[in-house]
Amino acid sequence: ISDFDVKNEPVLSYLKGSKERTELEKALNEASSTTEDVPIVIGDKEIRNNDVRYQVMPHNHKKKLAKFYYADKTLLQKAIETACEAQKKWDAVPIPERLRIWEKAASLMANEYRAKLNAATMLGQAKTIIQAEIDSAAELIDFFRLNSYFLKEATKYQPISEDPKVTKNSMRYRGIDGFIAAVSPFNFTAIGGNLAYTPALIGNAVLWKPSDTALLSNWTIFNICREAGVPPGVVNFVPADGPVFGDTITASPHLAGINFTGSVPTFTRLWKQVGENIGIYRNFPRLIGECGGKNYHFIHPTADVDSVVNGTIRSAFEFCGQKCSACSRMYVPESLWPKIKEGLLAKRSQLKIGDPTDPHSFTSAVIDDKAFKRIKGYIDHARSSSNLEIIGGGKCDDSVGYFIEPTIVESKDPKDKIMVEEIFGPVLAVYVYKDAKVKETIDLIGTSTSFALTGAIFARDEKFLKSAVEELKMTAGNFYVNDKSTGSVVGQQPFGGARLSGTNDKAGGPHYVLRWGNPQAIKETF
Ligand code: ALA
Repeated sequence: ISDFDVKNEPVLSYLKGSKERTELEKALNEASSTTEDVPIVIGDKEIRNNDVRYQVMPHNHKKKLAKFYYADKTLLQKAIETACEAQKKWDAVPIPERLRIWEKAASLMANEYRAKLNAATMLGQAKTIIQAEIDSAAELIDFFRLNSYFLKEATKYQPISEDPKVTKNSMRYRGIDGFIAAVSPFNFTAIGGNLAYTPALIGNAVLWKPSDTALLSNWTIFNICREAGVPPGVVNFVPADGPVFGDTITASPHLAGINFTGSVPTFTRLWKQVGENIGIYRNFPRLIGECGGKNYHFIHPTADVDSVVNGTIRSAFEFCGQKCSACSRMYVPESLWPKIKEGLLAKRSQLKIGDPTDPHSFTSAVIDDKAFKRIKGYIDHARSSSNLEIIGGGKCDDSVGYFIEPTIVESKDPKDKIMVEEIFGPVLAVYVYKDAKVKETIDLIGTSTSFALTGAIFARDEKFLKSAVEELKMTAGNFYVNDKSTGSVVGQQPFGGARLSGTNDKAGGPHYVLRWGNPQAIKETF
């Protein structure tokens, strides 16, 4: 991208006594002392029905953070009709006006509601302040600003008109008639905002099914966007049971697309349903999915041990390994393993796990009971398998919150399920390879799983780096050389997985917003 005139939102430091820290503490107090009542919103109507649910705090699951309601089939049908009506008017709003609304939303997020967004993310999704700040402040604001910038830049391109006196060719960016279904995950508040609001930016109307476990932070985004001027019906806030939502949207002839982040089985199910119903639609629905990963760190015998240790601890254990990009398998040469093991274990033992609002906590609890049981299942498997050894951590305790220690497992079998299945928790599996088997180990990375989200290689040997970049090109949509596998920044490392990790449409890149467009090329003859 040339003439890149938009900067990333700075990440604030929250030092004791700073203005942002004072505001954050106030917002944390407010959010933790109430249970926010969050309605379904369809058009300009706020709806509360009898299907009541609660969002609890993962680190203290007795505490209810938000009360909310599930939309049933009838309400979802109503939301579809409302969105389709709203889409017609919204698509006619000139792009500069929509860009102004997005800029206003970004500025409200950065200034008025930063503390509120962070507090909702910290208490609801158990993120520490630094993890919340890079997500529900910086990344969210960046999505709003940079997608606006990318759309503005795209509209500058106009096709060639050979003789403008005779013919004029032009392109208009429109939304798709119908509605887009946005299904967002718990792990990044920013992804919720991006999935719902980027299709809307280019002229679509949306049914947004937020994650039950990110309800309050997603509701905060929705309210900010209403205040910024997104008209009623353009985005409809419809928490719902997953299969009910999936069945209803895929059975509607008005379905124009699905913007999804979640598991491979759920995305596969939606894709199948769209396939089975293909004859009923007025458009071929756009299907954009960001699914699972089994992200790797490959360590070459020439790697720098300190950067391997620091990068791996952060990638595997920040936010309890629940970033889609988190490292969850590591390949280490025998010659470096003693030093790397010592470094990992020393650092691991210093990590404080506790209340996400405690500035000294490195991580907090995992998201919910389901996640706790799934992750504990892998740790139990490691305990009972002769091929596996838990060399650090392993404690699980859900008596107060869903706490799982950062855990490191050494595996003698590179194809054990701990090395190939997505765990989505603070469990790092390590396979130690013979130094002479670099090539075989590199081959194993690409062949032992169908995921290809993120991956990192650590080496100082330039010749190896050159060949490995080529050999591993299919194994990661986001690939890092001598850096950890997490931490992509909007506009800097557009993010998306290949293979079964997703459709690789690169959120935070210049093409993402255009994927939701329905451009029209017009030739006028004079
Ligand atoms: N931006 C997130 C990361 O790379 C997805 O960790």
